[in-house]
Amino acid sequence: MVAELSAALIVEIDRTAALIASQTNICILTGAGISAESGIPTFRDKQTGLWENYRAEDLATPEAFVRDPKLVWSWYQWRRQLVHDKAPNPAHLALAEWQQNTNQRLTLITQNVDDLHEQAGSQVTHLHGHLWRNRCHQCTASYQEPDADKQSQLFDDKLLTCLHCKGYIRPDIVWFGEALPVEAWQIAEKAAAGCEVFISIGTSSLVYPAAGLAQLAKQNGAKIIEINTDPTPNTVVDITLTAKAGEVLPLLVELLLK
Ligand code: OAD
Repeated sequence: MVAELSAALIVEIDRTAALIASQTNICILTGAGISAESGIPTFRDKQTGLWENYRAEDLATPEAFVRDPKLVWSWYQWRRQLVHDKAPNPAHLALAEWQQNTNQRLTLITQNVDDLHEQAGSQVTHLHGHLWRNRCHQCTASYQEPDADKQSQLFDDKLLTCLHCKGYIRPDIVWFGEALPVEAWQIAEKAAAGCEVFISIGTSSLVYPAAGLAQLAKQNGAKIIEINTDPTPNTVVDITLTAKAGEVLPLLVELLLK
């Protein structure tokens, strides 16, 4: 792994590890880029990004679901099918190893709706909900498939209705125009405001309020580190590590746990 990294990048990772090692409170925000190496498409990468090929306003807004619940439900069932056999990659595994073996206070926050951080063994706060959970769009009651045999219909695009109010069942995901889960946001704000180092990994930093967490951390004196394959509009960054998360994080964490 180390051999594949350029000498300049290894020096930067070394410098980053030295900066992080002397601090106590670390806040990490991940985005779709951390799951890209597991084979899950991001949203905005050219050609492969979901929002390059589909219109978010047709598929990820409450208005779209009210207009055409079948279309929206089918699209999420297709995404579940796409994600269900994917496994954590070295980036998820390195973060889990760090979290499990450090004395530092490490808060991991994700915008991702997959569960690859959990599968890797991390404790993580989800800002944008969970792909594998369902709830009623009308009364918000969570929905569990009452008949275990129906697990075989996991990716069925037939609409489901609420057992309480007969409203349509939707994925428990935060859509554009909807509020973030209150408790998750409180955890994120507190961790960002109270950290000495904020690490942004695999996110385009375009979607607020999540993208504002780095600014909040910066205002409170934190150093900001970004790990991304491409530059982002995030202007508060102190150290940029331009490479795949799955290449940078194993070495960074190895240095931190040495
Ligand atoms: P984006 O698709 O906007 O950005 C993904 C970022 O990951 C880009 O900046 C890529 O350059 C970077 N990237 C790609 N592969 C990478 C790799 N192997 N290692 C490191 N970086 C890599 O995804 P998000 O920023 O997560 O909302 O998008 C934010 C939100 O917009 C998502 O949570 C989603 C979407 O609409 C909801 O689902 C509610």
